[in-house]
Amino acid sequence: MNTTSVPADPTVPAVPAVPAVPTVRLNNGVEMPQLGFGVFQITDDETTAAVTAALAAGYRSIDTAAVYGNEAGVGRALAASGLPREELFVTTKLWNADQGYDSTLRAFDASLAKLGLDHVDLYLIHWPTPARDLYPDSWRAIERLTREGRVRAAGVSNFQPAHLRRLIDESGVVPAVNQVELHPGLQQAALRAFHAAHGIATEAWSPLAQGAVLDDPAITAIAARTGRSPAQVVLRWHLQLGNIVIPKSVTPSRIRQNLAVLDFELTTADMAAVTTSDRALRTGPHPDTFH
Ligand SMILES: NC(=O)c1ccc[n+]([C@@H]2O[C@H](COP(=O)([O-])OP(=O)(O)OC[C@H]3O[C@@H](n4cnc5c(N)ncnc54)[C@H](OP(=O)(O)O)[C@@H]3O)[C@@H](O)[C@H]2O)c1
Repeated sequence: MNTTSVPADPTVPAVPAVPAVPTVRLNNGVEMPQLGFGVFQITDDETTAAVTAALAAGYRSIDTAAVYGNEAGVGRALAASGLPREELFVTTKLWNADQGYDSTLRAFDASLAKLGLDHVDLYLIHWPTPARDLYPDSWRAIERLTREGRVRAAGVSNFQPAHLRRLIDESGVVPAVNQVELHPGLQQAALRAFHAAHGIATEAWSPLAQGAVLDDPAITAIAARTGRSPAQVVLRWHLQLGNIVIPKSVTPSRIRQNLAVLDFELTTADMAAVTTSDRALRTGPHPDTFH
């Protein structure tokens, strides 16, 4: 038997010992990474650098929206990465002004052109804007895009139970995902229970509350004990609740740090302690009244 060890080939980059990001199986069978990268409030130019850093760190899911004005910046980073399309998971969103059947189809075409893609993995109605009463028509258009294979999974964002119930009753199609504001300061227990009962995956936007929960005593105590940052503790809490998360950062060290949450666990007592941070802390608009 030959026991001579083969020296590592210095021309082959070492595969980082980072555990694979788990996926959530959506209600139509599509697998979505549970941890992705958000690009809200990043200029189009800066977005290319941020998404490039995220892809290099190991993120494969990117969350943008037409209204962020940076779909082209995302598209440039995806194209330059050389990663196979099937390894990427791209989400974008229909803006409020484009709601309605025909205008949704036109807005989707514009998003796709900016992204430089022939399909997206997840397309979301960004807000219900109930006073305009157009979300059922927008939903029918997204169902059509799904049938045509240009959208792999259809979902919504900022929908309350009444809006979800109406879509389900009128169309018979249950959204795959509802992306909502959710973090330790706004834990959305009732909405999460509704999602669980209907097979809708919960995706948390502003998962770090844009930093507003990072000095909560319950969170800093767990961070001190585990040797992790408060942001890592919060992201771990989300993952253990079953939420999909999309933290945003333009800071390369934070981009890497936010992904390095797959190799530790919060205890049952830690999870219960974070529950005490819940305080109706809404950092964004209220979905019932935002138009
Ligand atoms: N559907 C919707 O209506 C909706 C609304 C809002 C957001 N979203 C989506 O959700 C994504 C995330 O939400 P968000 O951008 O509002 O907020 P977030 O991810 O909760 O927080 C981002 C903020 O936290 C900072 N940060 C990131 N990692 C950190 C760390 N490890 N330690 C300390 N600070 C850290 C970032 O700073 P730096 O960037 O300076 O590092 C930035 O200021 C968005 O990008 C977007 O894709 C969706």
